[in-house]
Amino acid sequence: MTPRTISHIIEPNMVIEGAGVLLRRSFGPHASNKFDPFLLFDHFAFNNPLEGPVRGFPTHPHRGIETVTYMLEGTVRHRNSLGNQGTIAEGDVQWMTSGRGILHEEMPRRSANGNIYGFQLWVNLPAAEKMSQPRYQEVTAGSIPQVQKDGVTIRLVAGDYEGIRGPVTEIAAAPLYMDVKLDPGARFSYPIPSGHTTLMYVFEGTGEFSGEVVESVSMVVFNDDGDQIEVKTEAGVRFMLIAGAPFKEPIVPYGPFVMNTREEIEQTLRDLKNGTFIK
Ligand code: CO
Repeated sequence: MTPRTISHIIEPNMVIEGAGVLLRRSFGPHASNKFDPFLLFDHFAFNNPLEGPVRGFPTHPHRGIETVTYMLEGTVRHRNSLGNQGTIAEGDVQWMTSGRGILHEEMPRRSANGNIYGFQLWVNLPAAEKMSQPRYQEVTAGSIPQVQKDGVTIRLVAGDYEGIRGPVTEIAAAPLYMDVKLDPGARFSYPIPSGHTTLMYVFEGTGEFSGEVVESVSMVVFNDDGDQIEVKTEAGVRFMLIAGAPFKEPIVPYGPFVMNTREEIEQTLRDLKNGTFIK
């Protein structure tokens, strides 16, 4: 097995979204589609009560994407045009397939100690599924398999590890998405087929990734020059491992919509205007 080398490291930008929510954004949807099949990675980290009340994401539409929300601390209250409502609690995952159209609201709340900490990943849908039926997969913390071995603790959201399958399935991109924590002195390697986009969001500690030292908080982008990733750490490190096969289709992003052509974006805007967005 050959380790993949690091292409580059992204230092997340602070951005403001929704009704004034401060986020760390590693990347957002772009026509260049460099992280295909992934479109966006945001990190909610409100850990200073002096930031004042936490604002949220009032009702907004999506078309053509899937969003994955993973909360580590604090909660997100949500409701949507399918009639679902509930709370994404600590350790829970919500996987939303917007398909042809969904309207939803997402309202973060601080935990008892004042923190909100979580991630939202956007995954593209292939052209054939952009107008599919919208749906939600709610995964509670207790149903996410946790594997512990040789100082490595993995929470497996989607994909396989040592014969165990994560609970989020039937996602068009069939991605790998897992929360990996290495104790001081631990090592971790994982095979990733060549051709698959591979990212790691390092959010705690410091580690050596393919021989290069990376400190939190950073998004590591790997080259497609090997078939496995290798991590070791002296002091301990925690990261999200994100990998998947690209669709290799052109994309046209427009705010919360990601379609394949400009005409499809124009149709989306007409649907919203004419009240035919939600069927
Ligand atoms: Co949304």
